[in-house]
Amino acid sequence: MQLSESLTAAYNAQVKLEFESSFVYLQMAADFELRSLPGFSRWMRIQSGEEYTHAMKFIDFVIARGGRLELLALDKPAPTPETVVGVFEAALRHEQRVTRAIHDLYTRALEERDYASLPLLQWFVNEQTEEEATVSTILERLRMVGEDRSGILFLDRELGQRAGNPGGGAAEAESAAEA
Ligand code: FEO
Repeated sequence: MQLSESLTAAYNAQVKLEFESSFVYLQMAADFELRSLPGFSRWMRIQSGEEYTHAMKFIDFVIARGGRLELLALDKPAPTPETVVGVFEAALRHEQRVTRAIHDLYTRALEERDYASLPLLQWFVNEQTEEEATVSTILERLRMVGEDRSGILFLDRELGQRAGNPGGGAAEAESAAEA
């Protein structure tokens, strides 16, 4: 069954939001690098890459269902908050917004009885639960350390251990040099 025009438009809007998420985290990654916090920066770069894969998942689905992908202009990320805690608060608010958008998509798919959408959207419902939980945990730990610089540096080291691909030419050059 071909994707309806209204659902196609809703998926295209979601693709925009996922690419914007990728930009939001990439901006935060670059700003953490400027603030000499490479661990937080790496975490954000990996997150940015994940958001790109989310956009691609929706894109592949729209194409597979015979919908017309329409890439929309992206909104610029908001200025990165000054404190690390402020950055993760902004990240949590952003994820909550994405969660609401996914839930709205789910409701719309149900209303249209587009059952083929449900497994994909359920995957995203679960993913959002996980993402919100991860960011909330980081936020709680950042609140525990407060202004304590050694605590921030400890968490920077810890988040820098995040497995995944930070992407980009510099990272590739680095891994090539290590190989
Ligand atoms: Fe793809 Fe973090 O929402």
